[in-house]
Amino acid sequence: MIPSILPTYNRAPLHFVKGEGSWLIERDGRRFLDLGAGIAVNALGHAHPALVEALTEQAGALWHISNLYHVDKQAALADRLVDLTFADTCFFTNSGTEACELAVKMARRYWYAHGRPERTKILTFDGAFHGRSTAAIAAVGTPKMTEGFGPLLPGFVQLPFGDIEALETALEDAEVGAVLIEPIQGEGGIRSLGDDALRKVRAACDAAGALLILDEVQCGMGRTGRLFAHEWAGITPDIMMVAKGIGGGFPLGAVLATEEAAAPMTAGTHGSTYGGNPLGCAVGLAVVDIVADPAFLSEVSRKATALRQGLESLVASHPDVFESVRGEGLMLGLRCRLPATDVVQAGYAEDLLVIPAADNVVRLLPALNIPEAEIAEALARLEKTATRAAAKAA
Ligand SMILES: Cc1ncc(COP(=O)(O)O)c(C=O)c1O
Repeated sequence: MIPSILPTYNRAPLHFVKGEGSWLIERDGRRFLDLGAGIAVNALGHAHPALVEALTEQAGALWHISNLYHVDKQAALADRLVDLTFADTCFFTNSGTEACELAVKMARRYWYAHGRPERTKILTFDGAFHGRSTAAIAAVGTPKMTEGFGPLLPGFVQLPFGDIEALETALEDAEVGAVLIEPIQGEGGIRSLGDDALRKVRAACDAAGALLILDEVQCGMGRTGRLFAHEWAGITPDIMMVAKGIGGGFPLGAVLATEEAAAPMTAGTHGSTYGGNPLGCAVGLAVVDIVADPAFLSEVSRKATALRQGLESLVASHPDVFESVRGEGLMLGLRCRLPATDVVQAGYAEDLLVIPAADNVVRLLPALNIPEAEIAEALARLEKTATRAAAKAA
């Protein structure tokens, strides 16, 4: 008999009932050190006092009014994001997938409005992940994502990740209107494009007149030690997808765009019942206030260096379990020699949460404010996890 919850998830046998900072408490009382942060969502850990306060204060005042009226917290958050980034304008969504939908619509609408309606093609990359809507699965195009869900939304062309020559050749097609890429792939296995390659992607888009859409749903919001990952490369996109960390655990996403790219999205061309609701935006403002502080971001980088150094030693002392460390900032991956899922399981036995990704990688996406003592504790538990996984495999 089908369970009452549609069985699309393979869940670990864990039931968490409370969260405190970087800790999750299981219903049996065990305290798990959370290095997954709800897949890069709980950017400030669990139950951060400023976020709890922002949410409860807003909950006592106003939950929902729709976008028929002005939502003051939405305007305040948009103003903040416009001040802090390349963007001239923002549209708020409830998720990364919805941000992907709008990014695709915005790119196509741009070319429609500029008298080039045939420029509908969007170049994407292997290992990418942009969500589970019909557009987002078509963007990725792998059988794992698309099998049985056709006919797929046409107009996506997949290229090898980081292959600039292939990108330049593909951009010769006069029907290409945009390039959609994650500066660091998350689900794909913490694969960094690299600053130099990202600059080349920007230059190739400029040469072809194509729009650059960055998916910073997982790598954005302070995770790399800058507010957005592309800042390291010194380039800006035309359109950017944001979600996960911006809501700190409350469902919130956004599309940020330049005026040029966004101008054709006039009244009536897009909308959302819940997108930009007062609750989400109140929390988003509290998150941005903390994360965008340069002192906070430099702490992220400092902690990231400590964690990475520890991981390098871990890999060196367990070459039978791990192959290498990859990633940037607090978006790190351990490429495994044993099956990554076995390492994740061994972590559970050590009351440690890490997340599997493609390419046999275990992801570490801790809260950005993880205290130093807990980084040390994480490394100690990873050490035990590696020993346990190796013993099991022997
Ligand atoms: C890079 C990236 N884009 C888009 C998404 C989809 O976001 P959501 O699950 O909020 O719809 C994800 C989710 O993992 C992601 O990592």
